[in-house]
Amino acid sequence: MNLPRLGHPNLGLGVGLRSVHFSHILEHHPSVDWFEIISENYMDSGGRARYVLEKIAERYPIVMHGVSLSVGSTDPLNRDYLDRLKRLAGHVDAKWISDHLCWTGVAGRNSHDLLPIPLNEETLAHVCERIRIVQDILERPIVLENPSSYVTFADSTMNEWDFLAAMTDETDCGLLLDVNNVYVSSVNHDFDPNEYLDGIPFDRVVQCHLAGHTNCQTHLIDTHDNHVVHPVWELYRRAHASTGGISTLLEWDANIPEFPVVHAEVLKARRYMRDGLDEIELASEDDTPIETAPSSTTSAVPHPATFVAVDAE
Ligand SMILES: [Fe+2]
Repeated sequence: MNLPRLGHPNLGLGVGLRSVHFSHILEHHPSVDWFEIISENYMDSGGRARYVLEKIAERYPIVMHGVSLSVGSTDPLNRDYLDRLKRLAGHVDAKWISDHLCWTGVAGRNSHDLLPIPLNEETLAHVCERIRIVQDILERPIVLENPSSYVTFADSTMNEWDFLAAMTDETDCGLLLDVNNVYVSSVNHDFDPNEYLDGIPFDRVVQCHLAGHTNCQTHLIDTHDNHVVHPVWELYRRAHASTGGISTLLEWDANIPEFPVVHAEVLKARRYMRDGLDEIELASEDDTPIETAPSSTTSAVPHPATFVAVDAE
């Protein structure tokens, strides 16, 4: 299979569905192109969350984004979880199902975090075997996101982009390219984010993520609590051009502002789509909602090599 976006449509500019925005969305039906849900928030819920999701799914395309697949773990895959995931996907007509290249726990214990894996031939074979099982159960290609990370492993022998390229090649899975994660990891691990993009098989990229992060000066943390910084937008410009137009989703998970602010943030992506793309009809600047004040994290992040080490006691 070598179909751009695995044959999935370009859904346009979407927003991560968060419960604080439920009332606004139901009342105002904002002109957002699509919503991405956190799968686990709706799999077991028969309450208001599920009711709202069903109402929203009547009007907007829905994509499912999970955090519990733990495809990198050595624990057995959770068949019950996968069955429930598949049922929800059918119920909301999910356009695709995504999760992360990570592990979240081992020996039955859940870390509740998205942990990186060593990148080598052994883990590649392990992850690919599990992806094939997942895809057989879900009866569709899974889409996996590049993680943000804060440590690397002595056992790693491959770059992350080479790992992702080999992974998609061997399993026909899709990629969710989070350009903020690329940037966060590039600063934390001192690599060139453009070299990362050079190695990405863009025909396998189904979707992009945008998000804000926190600049801790010595490192960046993927907090999803602020506006998207300029260097991340520049990576997005390149990714968008390389894909020929791609479903784009803004994640905002902490200090969440009013819905129009979140929506306005993702609509800024229009400014970065001007590199010869005729697939998407660009809206005029007049359509762009309110501009919000730039935050302290919107300045370019200094390269870690310029930091002065702090003496530890
Ligand atoms: Fe993401």
